[in-house]
Amino acid sequence: MERTLLIAKPDAVQRGLVGEIIRRLENKGLKLIGLKMMQLEDAVLREHYEEHLEKSFYPGLEAYMKSSPVVVMAWEGYECTASVRLILGATHPREADAGTLRGDFAIGTGRNIAHASDSAESGKKEVARFFADKELFDYDKSEYLHIYEAHERN
Ligand code: RTP
Ligand code: MG
Repeated sequence: MERTLLIAKPDAVQRGLVGEIIRRLENKGLKLIGLKMMQLEDAVLREHYEEHLEKSFYPGLEAYMKSSPVVVMAWEGYECTASVRLILGATHPREADAGTLRGDFAIGTGRNIAHASDSAESGKKEVARFFADKELFDYDKSEYLHIYEAHERN
């Protein structure tokens, strides 16, 4: 099944929103398959935000992402990348719909709660970037019977 990466950014850790993020993704029915706290460093940030390296906001973004530990999570579910992006909301929090994490909890673009992979392909790459195979867990979730139709589970 599709996998996606979510990073609870320093603002989420500092504001005690890690549980809220997890709660919303669990409520959706997604399966948590990896979870750890990390201190991000320059090299991994440059790789992770490669598409933004030349942008004016990059130095601020890098400094901010290193400003406290983050919590990285790998989630699994049918077309889960799109679901997680919808729950997270638009990049600029003042434009994010109410009911989304960014719409409900953030104001500044540079303090927008969490990162989420933007496609199934980047989800795969980003989960592999942040988690070793042995840190990812393959297990049955009994509630799947009540969340998915058979063709979506397989
Ligand atoms: P993310 O990668 O963190 O999940 O966020 P995203 O896909 O919604 O947005 P993206 O365009 O990938 O931008 C990455 C992060 O850079 C910061 N940013 N600042 N000042 C600005 O105009 C600006 N634009 C982007 C945000 O923290 C954004 O999440
Ligand atoms: Mg992005």
